[in-house]
Amino acid sequence: MSTARFEPAGSLRGELRPPPDKSVSHRAALIGAMAEGPTRVTGYLDSADTRATLRAVAAVGAEVREGASDDHGGFFVEVEGLGLRSAKSAEIDVGNAGTLLRIMPGWLAGQADGEWVLDGDDSIRRRPVDRIADPLALMGADVECRDGRLPPLRLRGSSLRGIDYEMPVASAQVKSCLLLAGLLAEGETRVTEPLTTRDHTERMLAAMGASITREGQRLTIAPATRLEAGDIPVPGDFSSAAFFLVAALLVADSELSLREVGINRNRIGLLSILSRMGVEMGGAHESGRAVTVHEIREPGPEPIATLHVRDAALHGTTVAGEDVPAAIDELPLVGLLGCFAEGETVVEGAAELRAKESDRIAGIADGLAGLGAEIEARPDGFAVRGTGGLRGGRLDARGDHRLAMAGAVAGLASREGVEVDGFEAVEVSYPGFERDLRALVG
Ligand code: S3P
Repeated sequence: MSTARFEPAGSLRGELRPPPDKSVSHRAALIGAMAEGPTRVTGYLDSADTRATLRAVAAVGAEVREGASDDHGGFFVEVEGLGLRSAKSAEIDVGNAGTLLRIMPGWLAGQADGEWVLDGDDSIRRRPVDRIADPLALMGADVECRDGRLPPLRLRGSSLRGIDYEMPVASAQVKSCLLLAGLLAEGETRVTEPLTTRDHTERMLAAMGASITREGQRLTIAPATRLEAGDIPVPGDFSSAAFFLVAALLVADSELSLREVGINRNRIGLLSILSRMGVEMGGAHESGRAVTVHEIREPGPEPIATLHVRDAALHGTTVAGEDVPAAIDELPLVGLLGCFAEGETVVEGAAELRAKESDRIAGIADGLAGLGAEIEARPDGFAVRGTGGLRGGRLDARGDHRLAMAGAVAGLASREGVEVDGFEAVEVSYPGFERDLRALVG
């Protein structure tokens, strides 16, 4: 286990293109493998999680050709699709990748024959898969999991029928799994999500020729005979950019430019939360704002922009219900922001955080308390009382990449610095994080 120390920073200055989006990379490899012909992915994320997905699609028979690396954590990859219905039997090691674990079975369940086992590391073995196994079984899938709810997940290919399913939890992974299964089912599949979650799968499937429509919270997908291969540019990951955004807000005298960041509206809930915390937002020509959004473009199915950010004063807010899905992976950072905000910051309706790579409610509450924060964990979130700063100390990443990176940002903004134990967890989504962060410290 490695420990990294982050000293208080005088300022953060410069510019960065954050690494490619993890959610979009997973989907590009999987959906590319389901299409016919070559799908060219520009800027595929080079990380442990997304490498697991490339190995998984290769294991079921897709040819994966890797090209040159770029300068911001991505590389070019061409996936020669197999078509919808010819995946080979395989044992698939998903490593730490929950998105791979939960989305890929949607494709495999409806194959005419074949058998698959999906399993992964100790953390993955604690992550519930009944949320996909139950609706897949309703569609006619032959699926089994340990104790009815945990990996390993075993599938035998069978014929599926479309269902009309109301998801009990708001989860883009579950939604995506069922949409992929719907492509191979007989009749239409309807999925209703309680709150809108990231729609990368819907955008990519539509671009590749699938018939998919949304009415309110309900999505309908028609069965397909084929998907068209295509070119997929991967945007910078907003969830990775968020660590720099928060660092620049908290460290005095900071000014950063974050380029080519994906700004899918279902991912950028942190910006609305920040605005409620008193951070002034604006467009390119509005001066005096702490966060401005520039150069909005749509080079592929996902919109991107440059974000400029400088340090700002914050006050507390409450994050609840509808705010949660679009900021789910950024909620640990909201805890950190709360330490520096005036008044109280509360996160509620976010019990899902307990089922992430680690129990992120316990991890952030214990982690920040150990650095001097006044924070209380609650069953579905946490409450932090701002004390004008953070002392510093040691934080255990608990094998969770987002806790490791939050700890590093806490160190830069703290009075005494922070040591992050288990820092190697960053490999899961952002292997170059430490180098990129240190390059911006003034
Ligand atoms: C993801 C969806 C979210 C998110 C995860 C990535 C995805 O999980 O937390 O990091 O790529 O679909 P849930 O679907 O479990 O909410």
